[in-house]
Amino acid sequence: MGINILAMGNYVPDQKLKNDDLTRFVETNDEWIRTRTGIIERPMAGWEPTWYMGKKAAEAAVKKAGIDVSEIGLVISCTATSDFHTPSMASIIQNEIGAVNAGAFDLNAACTGFVYALDTARRFVETDDGLKYVLIVANEALSRFLDFTDRSSCILFGDGAAAAVVEKSSKLYSSVLGSDGSGGKLLCARALAQVPELATDAPEDFTDEFPDMPLHKLFQNGKEVYKFATSILPKSFTLAADKIGMTKDDIDWFVPHQANIRIIETAAKKLGVPMDKFIVTLDHFGNTSSASIPLALNEGIEKGLIKRGQKLALIGFGAGLTYGGIILEY
Ligand code: UT7
Repeated sequence: MGINILAMGNYVPDQKLKNDDLTRFVETNDEWIRTRTGIIERPMAGWEPTWYMGKKAAEAAVKKAGIDVSEIGLVISCTATSDFHTPSMASIIQNEIGAVNAGAFDLNAACTGFVYALDTARRFVETDDGLKYVLIVANEALSRFLDFTDRSSCILFGDGAAAAVVEKSSKLYSSVLGSDGSGGKLLCARALAQVPELATDAPEDFTDEFPDMPLHKLFQNGKEVYKFATSILPKSFTLAADKIGMTKDDIDWFVPHQANIRIIETAAKKLGVPMDKFIVTLDHFGNTSSASIPLALNEGIEKGLIKRGQKLALIGFGAGLTYGGIILEY
């Protein structure tokens, strides 16, 4: 049993940060960023909270789907940059769009979030006959937890949201979800501080291998994450493809997480797939974490590149370290 992506919607802030603008914060230059990452500019939330971007993308997707919002049975918001620890982004969006009959929860699988959410939605519609539509909203404001003194990470990320209305279908589908938690310390941000008055000494056998970093600021070991990304991207595809006896030649479009053009090029080479089969949007969006795959997917659809009936491979990887691949018919 598969899933049908009925309609999608995107929202990105108007404010764009170009490579040269980043020289306001760190010692860098346009040439380094372009050649080492492929990024030229990235949207940056100004006043927009994460949930607001998600709401706008959700409204666009629901409008395009032509459904009544009351028919949505579940809202899943994937985000690593929630405005609140609680309530969830999904609950806020559910209320904002008037999806009165929907349950709502957030899912954090970092940049693999949309892949995890789509696979989760597929399992919900498969096991609940009363559930007609699931709304998936990937919304991220990475700028709010970037360390703008760290030139190796602050140049990479952008803000934005993309949403998808999905329903049960008998179309082709395969998925693999994975995680290597031993790499958690390679890409992380602390959420909570200790209360100094209550802090007690840790027992001797306690180990905390996570690096010291400013609260709420992203830390990344770029080189190690790069190595992980270039090996897991082709591996995730192969694991999902093998499950249903497919090969790279059966795929019309690869829609990978948009982190660095060199990661995509290396994966393309490893898979033996030409780059023109990859949807690439990182030049103008940067890395928008969980929103990157659905933003790219919807852009491919709106440009008329991705057509109904074609076979797609969505491949994500990111903090966790998480990874996942989905093969589906659009
Ligand atoms: O969605 C989350 C997943 N994240 C990723 O997939 C990110 C994976 N990692 C990467 O994409 C790359 O490792 C980076 C883009 C983060 C870094 O690229 P790199 O080619 O691995 O650069 P590097 O870390 O080896 O640094 C090379 C040089 C260093 O200078 P020295 O030590 O050789 O003098 C850095 O200090 O480039 C320097 N550098 C910069 N120079 C100008 C690092 N960042 C910058 C910068 N501008 N922004």
